[in-house]
Amino acid sequence: MTEEPAKKILLGVTGSIAAYKACELVRLFVKDGHEVTPLLTHDAERFVTAHTFEALARREAARELFPHLMEADLLVLAPLSANTLAKLAQGLADNVLTQTMLAYRGPVVAAPAMNARMWDHPATKENTARLRERGVELVGPETGELAEGELGPGRMSEPNEIYARCLAALARGSELREKRVLVTAGGTREPLDSVRFIGNRSSGKMGVALAEEAARRGAEVTLLYANGSVPPPAGIEVVATPTAADLARETLARADADVVLMAAAVADYRPSEPISGKRPKEREPWTVTLDPTDDILAELGRRRTDGQILVGFAADEGERGLERAREKLAAKRGTLFVFNDVSQDDIGFDANQNEVVLVSSTGERKIAKRDKREVAVAILDEVATLLRGD
Ligand code: PMT
Repeated sequence: MTEEPAKKILLGVTGSIAAYKACELVRLFVKDGHEVTPLLTHDAERFVTAHTFEALARREAARELFPHLMEADLLVLAPLSANTLAKLAQGLADNVLTQTMLAYRGPVVAAPAMNARMWDHPATKENTARLRERGVELVGPETGELAEGELGPGRMSEPNEIYARCLAALARGSELREKRVLVTAGGTREPLDSVRFIGNRSSGKMGVALAEEAARRGAEVTLLYANGSVPPPAGIEVVATPTAADLARETLARADADVVLMAAAVADYRPSEPISGKRPKEREPWTVTLDPTDDILAELGRRRTDGQILVGFAADEGERGLERAREKLAAKRGTLFVFNDVSQDDIGFDANQNEVVLVSSTGERKIAKRDKREVAVAILDEVATLLRGD
């Protein structure tokens, strides 16, 4: 038995010659005291019977979906065939496994297995990319000898490898479970008159990715969203905060959250006298006086309680910008600062990818350029480490 509490695993098995290896995966889970509920597609049963899985898991294959779904800590798809992968990418729900995938909200680890040509097909590549974008963690496939005698990528990873990745996914999940996580995202807009504003290029992608990942890890997430251009994640509380004053009010009302992630680009200045109605165009220059806004993060830092994790973001440029992020960490009493170098067009504002340096009092870690969803995973891994107090 592991020292960790037993986890509830949903194991989806699809029609592939590699289905026999899923038996070993069940054995590894059960040996460590975890509960496995097998979900077999009709095609999977052509390779290994449900009875075999039931015997190894010491429980019946699931026919009633809902109770297992609500309690499961992890959904594992091994082997994942090209056919089921395509169905999942499309959101089909024509059997117990595809229905589970649509209804389940926790972490998913998938181990594809198929012929090398099928794996290399653009349709499979697109389907795989879709699943990855939605946060599914893929293990393999490996390159090796395939059932048809060919050599190539498509072989399901070994059960030990899949098991190790499942344990890592489970470990990641537990620290944020039921924690209250507050995320700010997007860019505030400060009105000049009823139609014009001073704003910034934040799309909300980084903050939305963080909110999604925190929800996937079982946190109770509230997203304070300022004019983002991407849809907020389904199933979490979203509060619109168009201006810096709205964001300040809503953030400070929730200042006791366990984790606060300040990814929004908040205006540092606002027009001191916004005009009501639309200002007509005139020939003279329009001079506007700007007043500084309140620094929300600094106020959160003043109110920070023991054990609370306060994450600031620094949108700055170059080495000197990184230096300023270090200074902000201390000045604003943050637990962690995420520095992104916004002098580069392909990361930071409105880009799909980001490259960041995680700066905390215990050290610094560079996260190389990758999709913002994967950056969110790295940031929340760091938050989990800080919550554990490692
Ligand atoms: O939304 P995307 O297009 O995905 O882009 C992501 C991002 C580049 C906007 C994001 O990763 C990011 O860096 N957000 C912080 C932008 C910012 O305002 O940085 P700053 O260095 O000016 O502020 C430092 C921190 O103080 C930030 O956490 C900010 O939320 C906070 N702040 C700033 C001003 C203010 N009045 N109150 C604040 O709390």
